Amino acid sequence: MSPLAAVLLSTLALPCLAQAPGQASATAATPPMGWNSWNHFAEKVTDADVRAAADALVSSGMRDAGYIYVNIDDTWEAGRDKHGNIQTNSKFPDMKALADYVHGKGLKLGIYSSPGPKTCANYEGSYKHEKKDAAIYAKWGIDYLKYDMCSYGNIMDKKVGKPNAANAAVRLKMDEAVYQKMHDAIAATGRPIVLSMCQYGWDDVWKWGDSVGGNLWRTTGDITDTYARMSEIGFGQAGLAKYAGPGHWNDPDMLEVGNGGMSQDEYRTHMTLWAMLAAPLLAGNDLSKMTPETLAMLTNKGVIAIDQDALGKQGDRLSQEGQQEIWSRSLSGGGMAFALFNRSADARPVTLPLASASLAAGTKLHDVWADQDVSTDGGQYTVTVPAHGAVLLRSNP
Ligand code: GLA
Repeated sequence: MSPLAAVLLSTLALPCLAQAPGQASATAATPPMGWNSWNHFAEKVTDADVRAAADALVSSGMRDAGYIYVNIDDTWEAGRDKHGNIQTNSKFPDMKALADYVHGKGLKLGIYSSPGPKTCANYEGSYKHEKKDAAIYAKWGIDYLKYDMCSYGNIMDKKVGKPNAANAAVRLKMDEAVYQKMHDAIAATGRPIVLSMCQYGWDDVWKWGDSVGGNLWRTTGDITDTYARMSEIGFGQAGLAKYAGPGHWNDPDMLEVGNGGMSQDEYRTHMTLWAMLAAPLLAGNDLSKMTPETLAMLTNKGVIAIDQDALGKQGDRLSQEGQQEIWSRSLSGGGMAFALFNRSADARPVTLPLASASLAAGTKLHDVWADQDVSTDGGQYTVTVPAHGAVLLRSNP
């Protein structure tokens, strides 16, 4: 470690935790579900779009299926007034009124900021205004904050240099401190606000996100609406299961289901994989223009039940043979979920042998998407899985 890094490390004492790790679990006892503006609307999102999303969550039945957070992503911010209070820009004329509208529908409102001076889209960030911003969010009635590293990365670069082995420890401390600072600012307001950490998986955030009060943390860079990127992220989550649990979740990024860049089989893989990963389910499509197929995919009860299972145990890869793989997840009440994935570009058979899945002979399996029981005669189940597709099975004891 460089002498400068050592000095900085010794001066960067973390502020006291307002709540001990794990105590955040009431805030996100299961992975958050809702909608976020970024994947479809990006920087064009307006108050009207957010109201339309809230309306659609109710009229489509998505709210009743569990999608309760309506999350405004980047580009709502203006500058600050002379007292340092954050202002909304003309796209969001009255945030409190918007929160009231969303709450009036039985939903919760989420917002976005950065620990840096600028957000990723170059709007006003919370740097040196964390307490004020948290207080304003609480006053508006905000229930969820996505806190996105963005330009704080440049501040770290300036202070201690670009990431390298010598400054890794001091960068980690800065990374932890900046999230804990916002956690403490939120805690001081007394309002329960879900803290969603977005720093792309830097510094193995899954190992410490909970200890600085994060309820979820992005494990990767941004998703795009392609099978290549979605599957790269989703299958890349292997090995992270032990870091997730009630109140603190790995976040492989928001859903692209319904945005048009993938086939139905590929979107089914997306939903199946995210459910196996106990991932937050934040729809990222235009809810006011959904097809019946998209709605059915987002609201499949059996898939949501696996994602939201009360045990909160994230799944992991059980076996892999070439481009076919099986993932498993333990469920509350002794059940199990198994996902059979075919990552090849042709339909392929995939076999789940009961014994290798630690299932007793005669265990019954239910195909969740098809909503039908399947035969395990012969001690195994074989199914043809479409190209880039998935089959999701559930066993109950
Ligand atoms: C980053 C985040 C995205 C989104 C944009 C907004 O890229 O990872 O999810 O919030 O910023 O600018």
